[in-house]
Amino acid sequence: MEVIICPTPDDVAETAAGIVAEEARLRAGGIVLGVATGSSPLGLYARLAARIDAGELDLSQARAFALDEYVGLEPGHPQSYHEVIRTTVTEPLRLDPSRVRVPDGNAPDLAAEAAAYERAIRDAGGIDVQILGVGSNGHIGFNEPTSSLASRTRIKTLTRRTREDNARFFEAGKVPVHCLTQGLGTIAEARRTLLVAQGEHKAEAVAQLAEGPVSARWPGTVLQYHPHCQVVVDEAAASRLELADYYRQVQEDKPLA
Ligand code: F6R
Repeated sequence: MEVIICPTPDDVAETAAGIVAEEARLRAGGIVLGVATGSSPLGLYARLAARIDAGELDLSQARAFALDEYVGLEPGHPQSYHEVIRTTVTEPLRLDPSRVRVPDGNAPDLAAEAAAYERAIRDAGGIDVQILGVGSNGHIGFNEPTSSLASRTRIKTLTRRTREDNARFFEAGKVPVHCLTQGLGTIAEARRTLLVAQGEHKAEAVAQLAEGPVSARWPGTVLQYHPHCQVVVDEAAASRLELADYYRQVQEDKPLA
């Protein structure tokens, strides 16, 4: 795992966007992205959009798979991840909407939808770069604490803490209870994983994820097994890392590629 500590949230966005843009160039535009919702990757998406607007990057041939979706929100609900992905990813990055997929949280058979989602990722050749945030309780995707480290896309029940964290987006008491989420095993199969986190409220989750024992108690720790995982954080989110000085030294003394 490579931990990159940046001075500010803007630097996190710029650094992470650089990583995605470089990978997209290597894959001549046909990249398969895994895309998170939430606040953490918004700056990264905005930086990618700026590169596209400037003609420096073209993602029109890219495909994208969202990490998760709430169950039971009416279609078109502004907080459904279908809508959030459309407004923060598909449109600003000028992706072809027919190449962007979000799990259907209103499917009549949610288990069948989860299985179909897994098949669609496989049929696309797998995810090249999975963009991730981390919940304050350590979840990635909506894999709440005690999720199986080998789990696949499935229905999960959100914890009270996640529902409180996300209550800011919903009318009082109307935060969904269930979701469909890629599993930890699904996420682990992406060729690259790129997690971004900002703010002091993420410091414990980031410290556990990078330095804690691998445990379903902190689901993001599964990334310690990932052969190509980058964690890009600001100073506040890095504030509880015991080995922060070492991560800084690694960035300063990077061997030439
Ligand atoms: C979003 C997702 C979640 C969020 C996490 C952090 O698709 O899967 O894991 O990344 O809840 O949310 P923010 O970024 O809003 O703090």
